[in-house]
Amino acid sequence: MNAPTVVDSVAALRAQVQDWRRAGLRVAMVPTMGALHDGHISLVRIALEQADRCVVSIFVNPTQFAPTEDLDKYPRQLARDLDRLREAGAHLAFTPSVGEMYPAGFATKISVGGPSSGLETDFRPSFFDGVATVVAKLFLQAAPDFAVFGEKDYQQLCVVRQLCRDLDLPVEIVGAPTVRDAHGLAMSSRNAYLGEAELDVARLLNVILRRTAGALSTGTDEAAATEDAAKALISAGFRKVDYVAARASVTLAPWQRNRGGRLLAAAWLGTTRLIDNVEIPSA
Ligand code: PAJ
Repeated sequence: MNAPTVVDSVAALRAQVQDWRRAGLRVAMVPTMGALHDGHISLVRIALEQADRCVVSIFVNPTQFAPTEDLDKYPRQLARDLDRLREAGAHLAFTPSVGEMYPAGFATKISVGGPSSGLETDFRPSFFDGVATVVAKLFLQAAPDFAVFGEKDYQQLCVVRQLCRDLDLPVEIVGAPTVRDAHGLAMSSRNAYLGEAELDVARLLNVILRRTAGALSTGTDEAAATEDAAKALISAGFRKVDYVAARASVTLAPWQRNRGGRLLAAAWLGTTRLIDNVEIPSA
């Protein structure tokens, strides 16, 4: 495979995608913050099943990190990322600087309602404003036909769909299944922060969520099931549980038994915060 072309200016990104689209090619975008792992690469593969060209953005977006969060220590490994993108067959990598995305005087924020309320927002109040603003910018800059987002960040996927619908952004959103390691742990750039003993605990997050989703679908009371799950996470070695919650799959409104559902959780392992989610099978 050829190495992807690397551009760091909005003008060069826009010119290349416009050329492709004028030539009748279908263009996909995969927004990322880099430190690419098999989860990200699966999005590129899914993109290339339906597109002629794939653009991957690599930008550690400062506006979605709170001052107390890991912006400075977030892994940055561009050379390795570009190797992985070459193997996967991506055509263009967009690697803007913070100044290119947020020039001096930048003063706009997009705030999505609906699925952004609760869950992550209870603990990271500005997170989805930062995500929605950067995703809207990326879509307006690149103007792809469609973009692929992982179900790993399930609430983010719902928020991005709502953003495109509400602002008439002409970008189709494709959701992609979560890629996990052999033990069921969802791949995440933040797993790099975990030691071996912590990884063993982290792997129980998915086990506990699947067990709880099964209990919910076979009639266990919702409050009892989610409380048991939170207790099980603490017994397993998690330090703190931010939430374990059952929600409607599309709106993220409270879950109604016998309707499509999603069980979502966020929990701390030492100083690392992990999130995961699973489908609640319909009974
Ligand atoms: P990042 O965490 O780098 O994730 C980029 C994309 O990869 C997201 O769509 C995410 O859901 C997906 N992804 C991560 N781990 C995955 C896994 N194990 N399986 C499948 N997909 C996975 O999410 C962001 O960056 C940012 O918020 C961004 C959307 C780029 C805006 O800054």
